[in-house]
Amino acid sequence: MCGIIGYVGPRPSQDILISGLARLEYRGYDSAGIAVIDGDGSLGTRKRAGKLQVLRDDLAAHPLSDGTTGIGHTRWATHGGPTDANAHPHLADDDRLAVIHNGIIENFAELKSELVAEGHTFRSETDTEVAAVLLGREFAASGDLVEAFRATVSRLEGAFTLLALHRDQPGLVVGARRNSPLVIGLGDGENFLGSDVAAFVEHTRHALAIGQDEIVAITPQEVTVTDFSGDAVDVEPFEVVWDAAAADKGGWSSFMAKEVSEEPEAVANTIRGRVHDGTVQIPELEGLDELFTGIDRIIVIACGTAAYAGMVGKYALEQWARVPVDVELAHEFRYRDPVIGPRTLVVSISQSGETMDTLMAVKFAREAGAKTLSICNTQGATIPRESDAIVYTHAGPEVAVASTKAFVAQITALYLLALHVGRVRGALDAETIAEQVRQLEAVPEKIARVLATEQEHIEQFAHWMADTRSVIFLGRHVGYPIALEGALKLKEISYIHAEGFAAGELKHGPIALIEPGQPVFVMVPSPSSSPLLHAKVVSNIQEIRARGARIIAVAEEGDAAVLPFADEVLRIPLAEPLFEPLLAVVPLHIFAMGLATAKGLDVDQPRNLAKSVTVE
Ligand code: F6R
Repeated sequence: MCGIIGYVGPRPSQDILISGLARLEYRGYDSAGIAVIDGDGSLGTRKRAGKLQVLRDDLAAHPLSDGTTGIGHTRWATHGGPTDANAHPHLADDDRLAVIHNGIIENFAELKSELVAEGHTFRSETDTEVAAVLLGREFAASGDLVEAFRATVSRLEGAFTLLALHRDQPGLVVGARRNSPLVIGLGDGENFLGSDVAAFVEHTRHALAIGQDEIVAITPQEVTVTDFSGDAVDVEPFEVVWDAAAADKGGWSSFMAKEVSEEPEAVANTIRGRVHDGTVQIPELEGLDELFTGIDRIIVIACGTAAYAGMVGKYALEQWARVPVDVELAHEFRYRDPVIGPRTLVVSISQSGETMDTLMAVKFAREAGAKTLSICNTQGATIPRESDAIVYTHAGPEVAVASTKAFVAQITALYLLALHVGRVRGALDAETIAEQVRQLEAVPEKIARVLATEQEHIEQFAHWMADTRSVIFLGRHVGYPIALEGALKLKEISYIHAEGFAAGELKHGPIALIEPGQPVFVMVPSPSSSPLLHAKVVSNIQEIRARGARIIAVAEEGDAAVLPFADEVLRIPLAEPLFEPLLAVVPLHIFAMGLATAKGLDVDQPRNLAKSVTVE
């Protein structure tokens, strides 16, 4: 939520800021702005409500300046609606300093009253302007931006990444973070700050991760990181593995279309390097066996699509590692009083690694003495830094707001983890592991087959359904979380009401929703590998068909039993039950995307949403 970039160096910053914001726009897209210190020491700003293109057009017509120190922001509104006035940067100190912010300053009302009482005036409804005015007051006292920044952040409560520049100190950008992301990009005679590495990956792959409650000052030649008291701290260097092209749309109509097409590689790349001689060895977990042997329970925490991946992972963890697993929405887990301790492993799942609900739950679990492991797709992100162990998914940058390739990569990482834990705990023999590994390794090719054989058909079908007002998704066992994922994806990008249910639950209430013509997607388990579940689901199909539902079956190639009852069949290749979700979700992703496209909607940037949800 909110994308942030800062630049100091020899090059004119305006274009660098705008292209960085274009790569960050998925973090928020209701307004954008930049501030640049010009060669003559003046501070120019431009900010506009609307997508980045509005700002771009404005700057193309009236360029700001060729100043080489700048900051830029793309916003997802929290305090104050998406207007020009509420867009960032916010100015203070007689318009000589500019501030951008991601997060929420919880004590802003109290600080604002204090500043108003001192005679300061405000031009926006945002909490950010309070930080800017506070910084201006502190700068007036010390004449030093870093010192003023330190005094300012010590007054703030809540979550924030703040960046500031002052025209009296050109060639300097100062930043700070608390519970909100900020990374440093190290260039040659130039340096960058960004909400994530996407901000600067086209310029450098050398990066530094900044810790919690730290302040960074960048000049073209130097990077200094201190804690909030001013003491120097160690920073962790890392090389960005994503290349800039991976975060480009290429020739695709949308990032989502590109990312769905990358689902086979997301699985393959997540497996790569973790399978040797038919067994699973996750290098990141070497020497950490105690995390898995010294526990009697696993709790998986995540939000949205990542939580559905967690629900799928539960089946594998329990079946292979023989450990009881609970899956909980991170925000629900955080605010109850769970029974956890040193014998609990809390596994968090987050594509961005920045979701505030998940981050707060991880910290809470650690404080309660639990062990923590994070499954994450983004290097340098906060959640892995707060965890005892990390297993990265290697889906590559996911830009579309709706998560697709990260979902299949998360399930893959959970399966690898389940096999790893099963081996370490002695719950699995070598032969079983080898067989499951073989099945997992076959998944990328099977997903590619779904894309090759079904995509066109599903897109056409989605087109016919463009006027649909409500869709139901049903599944049993691992098909249940896939039904939830199918419904979430559809509502998220096509704004159609959709619900996912456990197929067995239908008769306990939701079947009342079925009326003639109601479209119902059903995840049909394999008749050969899950005959019992298959029979149950076919019965469920008959129950709703008898009440007039239109059945769209997601069924294995060759399953003829569904044909008499299905109005439409979307085929997936044969797989063992645990591997079906990785295939069955692909038609659902294609369908949601196809339907949103047929309605003429922006599939990459759906209304009201942002990719990385950094507020609670
Ligand atoms: C849905 C979607 C969201 C995210 C959720 C968690 O398509 O993308 O539901 O899965 O906000 O995000 P991460 O994985 O970044 O923690």
